[in-house]
Amino acid sequence: MKVLLAIETSCDDTGAAVINLDDGELLSNAVATQEVHAKYGGVVPELASRAHDEGIFPVVLQALDDANSSLEQVAAVAFTKGPGLIGALVVGAAFAKGLAIARNLPLIGVNHMRAHVLAHMIDAPKPDFPFLCLTVSGGHTQLIRVNGPFEFVLLGQTLDDAVGEAFDKAAKMLGLGYPGGPILDKLAESGNPMAFKLPQARVAGYDFSFSGFKTAVKVLIDRESSSNPRFVDDNLPDLCASVRFALVDTLMKKLVAASNATGIKRLAIAGGVSANRELRRRLEALGNTNRYQTFIPKFEYCTDNAGMIAMTAWYHHQHELFENAAVKPNPRLSLDTEFLPLNKPSSES
Ligand code: KG4
Ligand code: ZN
Repeated sequence: MKVLLAIETSCDDTGAAVINLDDGELLSNAVATQEVHAKYGGVVPELASRAHDEGIFPVVLQALDDANSSLEQVAAVAFTKGPGLIGALVVGAAFAKGLAIARNLPLIGVNHMRAHVLAHMIDAPKPDFPFLCLTVSGGHTQLIRVNGPFEFVLLGQTLDDAVGEAFDKAAKMLGLGYPGGPILDKLAESGNPMAFKLPQARVAGYDFSFSGFKTAVKVLIDRESSSNPRFVDDNLPDLCASVRFALVDTLMKKLVAASNATGIKRLAIAGGVSANRELRRRLEALGNTNRYQTFIPKFEYCTDNAGMIAMTAWYHHQHELFENAAVKPNPRLSLDTEFLPLNKPSSES
């Protein structure tokens, strides 16, 4: 069996995954989440690069081991080309390039945001094309029409903060740890989402804006805390549920509006925030109406992982879309910027 080894190092998760090149079955998906950032309340880029450097080889060995594969079986190598933190991307790119050069393997550079979407192709049920995908993470909020594995149409995106950032900032104001999104989500389960009415920005089309939201949460906390210093502690689950409701409701309204406008009834979510329980329930409820087909990723494919990089790279390999070793990671690689000089290392060497 020939396999492809994929590496993900765009932010603070060091990932490696192995996929069967013949049939596209994902054989392993190893990840090491960097704990070092928690005490700083956010990702520290320099520390992320160093932790990737330390973690990458053990994670690669883990992925090969989990897949019962050996380095000899690796017939192609993929890495995350961008977007992401440049110092972090460089670690994965350098590792992949080194391996590709040493063993004369085809090298594949993967767009991280496309990979979040194509994570839906790892396990059944897989959406048919076209489908709509809401990609929601700490760095991005994108509403995408996916026409095929290489055809992504950006219908809308955030004009300022990403929705994951809005979750994390609200969580910080409520005194929760970092990253606060998952903690807030958990606490929200026992709260009343209607307890506090928080504003939802009205933005034209399919774009989003979340920068005013954090101000609204701050104004609420400051106002109420002036008469009750224990306001946040006394109302924590209700505050979490109200924040979550406002953010998720904004996302769902745009997704449904895009579905109505395009007539596309296959709806998917992707990215770290797609782990949010309320967002998953809301999408599931839509699916239960039988008017929509909905696709909710497994938790392990929501946050950053190399499995999604491997899946995307598998499509590249099918079409022989390779890079040469001079390829540079691009921290701002956009959804629709594609590279593609169709280089095959074998014909170059
Ligand atoms: O995709 P991701 O792992 O990293 C990138 O930003 O690329 O997404 C991380 C984001 C963080 O903002 C985190 O707080 C958010 O996803 N997140 C959640 C949940 N799980 C992760 N936000 C809300 N509810 C969750 N359950
Ligand atoms: Zn991501």
